[in-house]
Amino acid sequence: MSPNIITAPVRAMLVLGTRPEAIKLAPVARAMAASPLFEPIVVTTGQHREMLHQMLELLRVDVHTALDVMRERQQLSTLTARLVDGLGEVFRAERPDLVIVQGDTTTALTGALAAFYERVPIAHVEAGLRTGVLDNPFPEEVNRRLIGRLARWHFAPTPRAAGHLAAEGVPDAEVFTTGNTVIDNLLWVLAEGTGRGLFETGLRRVLVTLHRRENQGDTMRAMGECLRRLADRGDVEMVVPLHKSPAVREALLPELTGHPRIRVVEPLGYLDFSATLASCDLVLTDSGGIQEEAPTLGKPALVLRTTTERPEAVEAGAARLVGTDPQSILEAAVHLLDDPVAYERMATAGNPFGDGHASDRIVAQLAEDFGADAGPDRGVVPLVASRPEGPGSYSTA
Ligand code: UD1
Ligand code: UDP
Repeated sequence: MSPNIITAPVRAMLVLGTRPEAIKLAPVARAMAASPLFEPIVVTTGQHREMLHQMLELLRVDVHTALDVMRERQQLSTLTARLVDGLGEVFRAERPDLVIVQGDTTTALTGALAAFYERVPIAHVEAGLRTGVLDNPFPEEVNRRLIGRLARWHFAPTPRAAGHLAAEGVPDAEVFTTGNTVIDNLLWVLAEGTGRGLFETGLRRVLVTLHRRENQGDTMRAMGECLRRLADRGDVEMVVPLHKSPAVREALLPELTGHPRIRVVEPLGYLDFSATLASCDLVLTDSGGIQEEAPTLGKPALVLRTTTERPEAVEAGAARLVGTDPQSILEAAVHLLDDPVAYERMATAGNPFGDGHASDRIVAQLAEDFGADAGPDRGVVPLVASRPEGPGSYSTA
């Protein structure tokens, strides 16, 4: 007797719209495409335009349906309304068996909400991250909390994230600790090995990215000025791949343009970005994904934010939350550049976010649940998937 039987492949719709969603859902789509049990159907919302498209081909993501919602300086309310409307229409036309969203963007929130309205079950990848501060990061903390109310499967990257969901009353049986799919993707890309690092000199190599909404305006302008002061040291080469957001460019370009040791470039494709990260000495960032990737590559990361939903890296000693005050940022960067012992401690702290098999665990869990739920009228395809580790039992060791 086998309860695990599936007839037609499960039609899994992966909804993605921004750069990090493409990066973190690509390995899930690839794992599903390699399984006879799933038909992955990728829908792109176009919340990002250039920064999304530059990812899809090189990560080998085939797009089934593409919405085109991006507007210059889009407002959260209009973006949200357009996406719920557009995605609802796609779900009604395609009738997927499940919808998969990732993280905490407007695309992820609206994908979950529209799926709920169409009565399609929702899987949330990278579930359970929390800062505990409702408006920081803005609006992501609220987005992920709301998705946590809507999802049927919560794929938490770490035991801590799973713990947040338990504390909010999500049943244990719906939470699975998997590691973060960003590591799956990073290891896959590095194995491809075709990227080109952007640093050119033998100076200390500092990679910088900034984009968070809550820091745009004066805070980000001041951070730009502080970066310029850091480059004034003379022994630093800084590479800044600049987010496409006009608000980010207005804040940073006046401070960074024209400095002989600051190289401001357009957003990099993932192959070149990961090669640049792999060849840097130090990372200064407010990015979520880069907080996860830097420790994997042994690169100390200074997190230029007042909160983080990824304290695992800070506790491991691989990252430091330095805030947004220019003087604190400068002091933290100078300390690491000048103190080889402190530097080495951070560089060797290790990665608490996964072992590169998160997507396999996610796909195996979904296969098991769909197989068990499918019933005999779906025909007979035996499941070969093994059971992933349960909540709290995940280890990178
Ligand atoms: C969004 C996510 C944020 C994520 C970030 C990743 C929300 C609310 N925010 O923030 O969680 O960390 O993506 O980068 O979902 N633009 C372009 N071309 C692009 C992309 C953006 O021109 O390819 C410009 C547009 O003018 C757009 C603006 O950037 O209006 C902001 O984009 P948006 O997606 O609204 O916010 P992000 O700050 O990118
Ligand atoms: N990234 C990239 N090119 C760049 C900058 C970042 O490919 O020029 C990748 C980076 O490796 C990480 C992801 O984009 O995986 C992070 O995206 P972002 O910082 O925009 O969003 P967040 O992670 O903060 O949501």
